[in-house]
Amino acid sequence: MAHKQAKYRSDYRAPAFTIDTVELDFDLHDNATRVTSVLGVRRLGPGALELDGEQLKLISVAVDDVELDADAYILNEHQLIISDLPDECTLTLVTEINPSANSALEGLYKSGGAFCTQCEAEGFRRITYYVDRPDVLAVFTTRITADARQFPYLLSNGNLQQQGECENGRHFAIWHDPHPKPAYLFALVAGDFDRLQDTYTTTEGRDVCLEVFVDKGNLSRAEYAMVSLKKAMQWDEERFGLAYDLDRYMIVAVDFFNMGAMENKGLNIFNSKYVLADQNTATDWDFIHVESVIGHEYFHNWTGNRITCRDWFQLSLKEGLTVFRDQEFSSDLGSRAVHRIDAIRVMRSHQFNEDASPMAHPIRPDKVVEMNNFYTVTVYNKGAEVIRMLHTILGEEGFQRGMQRYRQRHDGQAVTCEDFVAAMEAANDVDLSQFRRWYSQAGTPVVNITERYDASTGELTIRCQQQTPATPGQTDKAPVVIPLLFSVFDARGQRLAVEHEAIKRHESGSELLVLDQAECEFTLSGFAKRPIIAWLENFSAPVKLEREVALDDYALLLAHAEQEVTRWEAAQQMYLHVLLQAVEQGGALTLPQGLLNALRQALQAPLDNALKALIFTPPSAEELSEYYSSDVPLAAIEKAGKALRQQLALALQPDFAALFDQLQASDDDLSGPAMATRAMANRCLYFLAYAAPQQYADLIAKRATRRGNMTVQQGALEIAVHLELPNRDNILASFLEQWQATPLVMDKWFAAQASAVTATTVNEVQQLTDHSLFTLRNPNRVYALLATFCRNSLRFHQADGAGYRLVLDVIKQLNNLNPQVAARLITPFLQWRRYDAKRQEQLKSCLSELQQLDDLAPDLAEKIASALES
Ligand code: TRP
Ligand code: ZN
Repeated sequence: MAHKQAKYRSDYRAPAFTIDTVELDFDLHDNATRVTSVLGVRRLGPGALELDGEQLKLISVAVDDVELDADAYILNEHQLIISDLPDECTLTLVTEINPSANSALEGLYKSGGAFCTQCEAEGFRRITYYVDRPDVLAVFTTRITADARQFPYLLSNGNLQQQGECENGRHFAIWHDPHPKPAYLFALVAGDFDRLQDTYTTTEGRDVCLEVFVDKGNLSRAEYAMVSLKKAMQWDEERFGLAYDLDRYMIVAVDFFNMGAMENKGLNIFNSKYVLADQNTATDWDFIHVESVIGHEYFHNWTGNRITCRDWFQLSLKEGLTVFRDQEFSSDLGSRAVHRIDAIRVMRSHQFNEDASPMAHPIRPDKVVEMNNFYTVTVYNKGAEVIRMLHTILGEEGFQRGMQRYRQRHDGQAVTCEDFVAAMEAANDVDLSQFRRWYSQAGTPVVNITERYDASTGELTIRCQQQTPATPGQTDKAPVVIPLLFSVFDARGQRLAVEHEAIKRHESGSELLVLDQAECEFTLSGFAKRPIIAWLENFSAPVKLEREVALDDYALLLAHAEQEVTRWEAAQQMYLHVLLQAVEQGGALTLPQGLLNALRQALQAPLDNALKALIFTPPSAEELSEYYSSDVPLAAIEKAGKALRQQLALALQPDFAALFDQLQASDDDLSGPAMATRAMANRCLYFLAYAAPQQYADLIAKRATRRGNMTVQQGALEIAVHLELPNRDNILASFLEQWQATPLVMDKWFAAQASAVTATTVNEVQQLTDHSLFTLRNPNRVYALLATFCRNSLRFHQADGAGYRLVLDVIKQLNNLNPQVAARLITPFLQWRRYDAKRQEQLKSCLSELQQLDDLAPDLAEKIASALES
């Protein structure tokens, strides 16, 4: 493949031509689908018309119905360029594509028996020649023709205008979408499905027909998705004042999909993982994810579709904002604390890692080779944290004022992150110039806090410093705006009032101090004794906090803090303190009595069981590794982690046993309390099996193989595999037999084995790549086995390099089959500098081996180059 050129954000120029109308005609056939595209083209400025196209067979080009000779245009591997066009004309393009040969799952492809499309970011150019950039907004009309028996449903964006029979057993449908949209939001589906139908009436009085299409036989597993969709529609009206704008909203679930789901206008296409759910096959977290992804794609209708991105550097404009919206949706409907903790863990275990990697980029990147590489935790999740900081600074009312202004100014436009911030600024009459650095600076800021208490004056002096480490291409970092939420407590855990001109009581209940200097110092007074402060409550900024740790202070916060997230955080800090100290000793660990007492108290406290389950989830090896920028002490991390869990299990065994007996929830109860009960029951069982494997093996086998509730089954399966219970092979075999015909459940079976930290893990994962149910063609299956293994840093980095070679081999095969998926697996190789010399050599040699492939996909090439040159 020819070397792909980098694009720079600063090079943005409007296109020479825009497209106002598109009439598409698809004559669907497995191997040769003919696409006729009639474009209403209009000149915006000087220059030729540059149409993008990849892997297309061009049949003909006509301008205003006059066919062009081949010398009237330039055709290369990536573009069709036509000069000397009139200011307005009609361009007719006929191309041919081969959907069944499309294993990259971009453009038009077959998933199972159905045709479907994926056009974001630059997939539309694999369907036909087009000005494939998000600032070209056109009104689409789509005609689809296909075999009537095989493909009873023919779907596209907007409203159904006409349908009918053709000859040869084929039929057609014509769809029209009145809302101008960029090509990345185009969608087409043709297939045979079961269809779940419902209606929703918007506050504006519009009756919307809702449809969820799933593979035959799966109708009952689509109900939760439909319920979630209606909740999302209502929530967006109530919280954001945004109502749906078409008469029809369709969701199609497909098994072969590179990502989670896609917000195509009026026709979302979903990975079936985020649609299909019933208590037999989906865990409680699966249900939560269905609700949040359904919400996410629905919320894009306003933040992404009605107001879209000017160019792909602005991706966080729609993704950061929409993740923020889906997080708020989940938090308003379920436990706010549990969802917040989930988001914090994603930031600490994945985003901080990306910020410290050769591929580190600001939430609004400056340079991109392959756009697919920038659908990242930085753009999505750190992007959402940046929106959340605005929300914290402006408050809910101010934030919604800004949203209204954003909509008034930009509805129907393709805009930039700058436009969003400017709308927030104008609506609130504030100056956000310094805040904008969050959009341009990469890297995780480190905030250092020191406290000095003077008993003679009752004064507490607090010093805050911030500093952002250099990232590739960005050495000088300026101070950013950090909203710091905190609470002050006395030694008995009573909340103390704070008086200071720079600090105000925030609507969340915490104090708010906004840091904007590299360094600041301030003094609080009136403390008879040294007060105790919970800093960075609710993870109010995406930063690392450095401060002196006093275990007793955290024990107090765990027991008494008002906010649930603060209590969880206190437990995490206690674990971290003990673990990091143990790692310094090569992994030898003795649990301090103070930590044990605090945890025993928490176990018995009347806390939400879901929160308790999180409190009893110590930091992962991956999170611990974040504390080391070189020579990550893997062996010591593994040893310390195991010792912590083992000692905790033994010390609290009677407490876990007593609690476990009280935690009963019926299998079909999907309420919050029932889910919380199951979560904590699984945590108890995990520690019980750690303490007494023989004693609990039978119970765990029963739970792992009894059909009725997947949270119970998967929880037990993972315990059996991760703790290598004596009956683990039998349990795996029974589970396989029970679920071999249900792909989404089999993914759990593969993932359980790939996430184990045992002596046999690498071998087993290797063998599983040859399992009859394993296939490189299904991204869900690849992620379940190999992305899970890549995240298992203790085994991926196994000293003999076997983990590296196993993943390398898969990446080589995926380079040809599906580069987008291949590029997701390469992530842990990029961080080679963080490991010891031997591992560095091995990781680097894997990267150079890939670099030498002569058909290396740009997705991989970009990441490898960044890793080797930085
Ligand atoms: N816009 C989608 C979302 O966040 C992301 C997405 C779905 C995507 N499929 C993709 C991005 C394929 C790139 C390629 O909801
Ligand atoms: Zn999205």
